[in-house]
Amino acid sequence: MSKVVVMLGPPGSGKGTQAKRLAVRFGIPHISTGDMLREAVARGTDLGKQAKSIMEAGKLVPDEMVDGIVKERVARPDTPNGYILDGYPRTIKQAEFLEALLNGQKMIVLDIEVEDDEVVRRLSGRRTCQALGHIFHVDFNRSARGDVCDKDGSPLIQRADDKEEVIRKRLAVYHRDTAPMVDYFRTKPGFHRVAGDRSPDKVFGDLQRIIEEE
Ligand code: AP5
Repeated sequence: MSKVVVMLGPPGSGKGTQAKRLAVRFGIPHISTGDMLREAVARGTDLGKQAKSIMEAGKLVPDEMVDGIVKERVARPDTPNGYILDGYPRTIKQAEFLEALLNGQKMIVLDIEVEDDEVVRRLSGRRTCQALGHIFHVDFNRSARGDVCDKDGSPLIQRADDKEEVIRKRLAVYHRDTAPMVDYFRTKPGFHRVAGDRSPDKVFGDLQRIIEEE
């Protein structure tokens, strides 16, 4: 059966880390709006030019812009068995857009809960591989090859929005704009909250079980 999985949680809660593993486990694509926007910035497209300074300031890019890239992405031919959305939706308007797009199709909504101080610890030590976005941490999840990705050999870099002042801004935006959207989903069928302050394997085990049971 087709599975539409929506990963929620503050910045640094482990959405990307878990979504990549779940995508492999269930054989469905991982669709990250953050990754798509960063790719547009790197390629210097019109979308990327508009998004760059907004992202570097830790703010949200306009709803219409993100709704458009998600609509286009989920219409591609690799999605008939479902997909995992990571970082979308992030506002009540985006949630309403997604519900209209899905037209009654069921969603499995996974909300990973992590405290703000832990977010700052995680994001200030995060390193991301330049080629394929594999995610590491200088203390909690080191690459076996030091400053180089142990999966594809590309350099590990620090994201422009992973500086402490920008992380704090992203958290404030999360509490102001995204937390009300999480409340919006909370009473709907398919919503699950998972404690994210545990090892990645333990979090993964819970998420996997929920998806299998839904
Ligand atoms: P986006 O790329 O989506 O960033 P985010 O939501 O802020 O989330 P992150 O990618 O920072 O964290 P994550 O939860 O994926 O954690 P990760 O697995 O990497 O968005 C970036 C920007 O794009 C936004 O600020 C906005 O400007 C724009 N944007 C994107 N989508 C948008 C939308 N829908 N609307 C408007 N604007 C949008 O893990 C973090 C670190 O912790 C890693 O180092 C990892 O190794 C480590 N870690 C993971 N799990 C654990 C664990 N269990 N224990 C210890 N360490 C762990």
